[in-house]
Amino acid sequence: MSDSSTGPSSTGPSSTGPLPLQGRSVVLGICGSIAAYKGADLCSKLVQLGADVTVVMTDAATKFVGPMTFQALTGRHVVVDPYTHEEGVHVEHIGLADRAECFVVAPATANFLAKAAHGIADDVLTSSLLAVTCPVLVAPAMNVRMWQHKAVVRNVATARELGYEIAEPGEGFLACRDVGAGRLAEPADIAARVGALLTA
Ligand SMILES: Cc1cc2nc3c(=O)[nH]c(=O)nc-3n(C[C@H](O)[C@H](O)[C@H](O)COP(=O)(O)O)c2cc1C
Repeated sequence: MSDSSTGPSSTGPSSTGPLPLQGRSVVLGICGSIAAYKGADLCSKLVQLGADVTVVMTDAATKFVGPMTFQALTGRHVVVDPYTHEEGVHVEHIGLADRAECFVVAPATANFLAKAAHGIADDVLTSSLLAVTCPVLVAPAMNVRMWQHKAVVRNVATARELGYEIAEPGEGFLACRDVGAGRLAEPADIAARVGALLTA
């Protein structure tokens, strides 16, 4: 019996032939946004495409979706707090950066964008970001007024200058009940961008 939440979907691969992202290593960062649950959908889509996905969650992200969800989807340990790793001491952020063939942060908060733009590395996600050499895709999600704030606009521009690709948020009804730009880009579209970056 197939599980509709993780099994092949209309946007997933066919059941025959090699999977498009088979064995490709993707690090997926999840930040503290209402849209964190859509990060689980993206994670599932990447797994269905064959990618080996390692999830890194910020502390804030764990308030929205439990690490167990991502652990179940990926079959891998979810990196949250590297200072309390049960299996001994690992320099997680460097290991993650070495492993990543594509580094995608979805959803990315205004806070993450500010840190990424300024090279701040105060958690495992932002530390890893500074150590990666692979393509980076950032998919912001936030309230429309946050998205339009000059500081965020400036940080997005700086992130682009640093070479990070931005998956622009869409417009529509936001969790805060405002309507406007700030909705996380569709997980299927983000997955397609990851695929394009990996096969470029
Ligand atoms: C209910 C709730 C929803 C939030 N949604 C967002 C959001 O969609 N985007 C955003 O940038 N910040 C959002 N925030 C604020 C972030 O959670 C906060 O800035 C946090 O420090 C982000 O941490 P992180 O970037 O390390 O994940 C939200 C906060 C709360 C309490």
